[in-house]
Amino acid sequence: MAASIIFLFFAIITLAAGILLRRKHRHRNHRLPPGSLGLPFVGETIQLISAYKSDNPEPFIDQRVNRYGPIFTTHVFGEPTVFSADPETNRFFLLNEGKLFDCSYPGSISNLLGKHSLLLMKGALHKRMHSLTASFANSSIIKDHLLLDIDRLIRLNLDSWSDRVLLMEEAKKITFELTVKQLMSFDPGEWTENLRKEYVLVIEGFFTLPFPLFSTTYRRAIKARRKVAEALTLIVRERRKESETEEGKKNDMLGALLGSGNRFSDEQIVDFMVALLVAGYETTSTIMTLAVKFLTETPLALAQLKEEHDQIRSKKSNSEAPLEWSDYKSMAFTQCVVNETLRVGNIIGGIFRRAMTDINIKGYTIPKGWKVFASFRAVHLNPDHFKDARTFNPWRWQSNTEVTCPTNVYTPFGGGPRRCPGYELARVLLSVFLHRMVTQYSWYPAEEDKLVFFPTTRTQKRYPIIVKRREDYNKLCKAQ
Ligand code: HEM
Ligand SMILES: *[C@@H]1O[C@H](CO)[C@@H](O)[C@H](O)[C@H]1NC(C)=O
Ligand SMILES: *[C@@H]1O[C@H](CO)[C@@H](O)[C@H](O)[C@H]1NC(C)=O
Repeated sequence: MAASIIFLFFAIITLAAGILLRRKHRHRNHRLPPGSLGLPFVGETIQLISAYKSDNPEPFIDQRVNRYGPIFTTHVFGEPTVFSADPETNRFFLLNEGKLFDCSYPGSISNLLGKHSLLLMKGALHKRMHSLTASFANSSIIKDHLLLDIDRLIRLNLDSWSDRVLLMEEAKKITFELTVKQLMSFDPGEWTENLRKEYVLVIEGFFTLPFPLFSTTYRRAIKARRKVAEALTLIVRERRKESETEEGKKNDMLGALLGSGNRFSDEQIVDFMVALLVAGYETTSTIMTLAVKFLTETPLALAQLKEEHDQIRSKKSNSEAPLEWSDYKSMAFTQCVVNETLRVGNIIGGIFRRAMTDINIKGYTIPKGWKVFASFRAVHLNPDHFKDARTFNPWRWQSNTEVTCPTNVYTPFGGGPRRCPGYELARVLLSVFLHRMVTQYSWYPAEEDKLVFFPTTRTQKRYPIIVKRREDYNKLCKAQ
């Protein structure tokens, strides 16, 4: 009884708020996209979260797109928000970053990132730092410097596997070691592993929305953030001293940040490094795990991938011989697998922005100050754009891609001024990982494991698999 009175009360307030909002905007000759603002304060946040916890990838958006069309209004994480599942509108959001929209994160997230993080920068400074970041990870740097380390570190990690591994954990370890190597030339060791333990606590803090301030996980994350920053600051100071001498100069990202011409403070450099660790860690390790999962569930694709990589290996003197850039460039089918994993996996399901002014689009008005969300996932999984959109089918990328996929429809790495500067690096990492994985091992899932989509896209059990060296696996099969 009490509950239903409270509910009624909420319902009335919501209705009133909705009418007021709509009247206010109609008054100014404005039309909001259709939709519902849900309950006061919580809006439709509960529906959003519970929908993403189910194993249907897009129930929240599917339902509303069916009811209202591809652009609709909702209310999540404490604010009214316009959702878009429309590729043209998404592109409009992305390309007008800094002009009509800017990025906006809740204060709890900004605190974890640090105030000099690339993800929070705006305007001219953002432009400069974004292109600096991109130049650290562009194809010529990967080709001339990073590829060798990527291959070596992946091989080293895989060599230590035996029997049962949690693939997601292994992928995270590899990704972290690689990032640390590229940032400051440290080889994996105790220091790296200790830093990673703190760092994992920081990452957990990002997923305490919508109520971070009530959360012990969040407080622990803030503490860990301080520890990570302290450890990195020590390194930066040391390297700054060393870089004053000729032999102390190193050819890594930290070296470039300390280089002449840049006058960054220690704090700026540390925040910058934390941002790179944040942006690359979960994303890349998840894509590695999902690629293996999707391939395991699609044996024909796995067989074809194996063939491609066995061929590359067969031209080398031994299994240790490093991969070269020309090898990477010859992985045609692998690139289809990479694209398809990114399309179905949707590691970053979409991006939030804030309208800097009233914005008219497709006959609607988005009021100044409102949030918008461009859903990449809704587009990538829409059968209008991709035939049999919810099936993992790497061969679709072999046919004429212009027909199956006009460029503005496929945006796993976003677009516009904030397009992921690590996109090539992520692709190379995944390709090299798959190369070592299929040439060294055969595997099967140790248990049933499901995809979940909240707070991030991942598998529920971190994808446990049983791995066997291929030569042993073949012997085993023959013996049976
Ligand atoms: C599969 C792996 C990855 C995916 C799917 C991915 C996706 C994305 C997306 C969609 C954005 C745009 C965010 C926005 O517009 O607000 C982004 C930004 C960013 N990514 Fe990645 N990323 C991946 C790997 C990496 C890696 C390996 C790095 C490390 C170099 C990296 C560094 C960044 C940075 C620094 C930004 C912020 C750019 C800015 O705000 O200007 N990402 N990423
Ligand atoms: C990559 O960045 C470096 C600077 O780090 C620059 O010299 C080079 O021209 C860039 N290459 C490409 C292909 O953009
Ligand atoms: C993969 O997607 C990118 C767009 O991000 C495209 O340029 C490329 O041609 C695609 N690769 C294949 C093999 O279709």
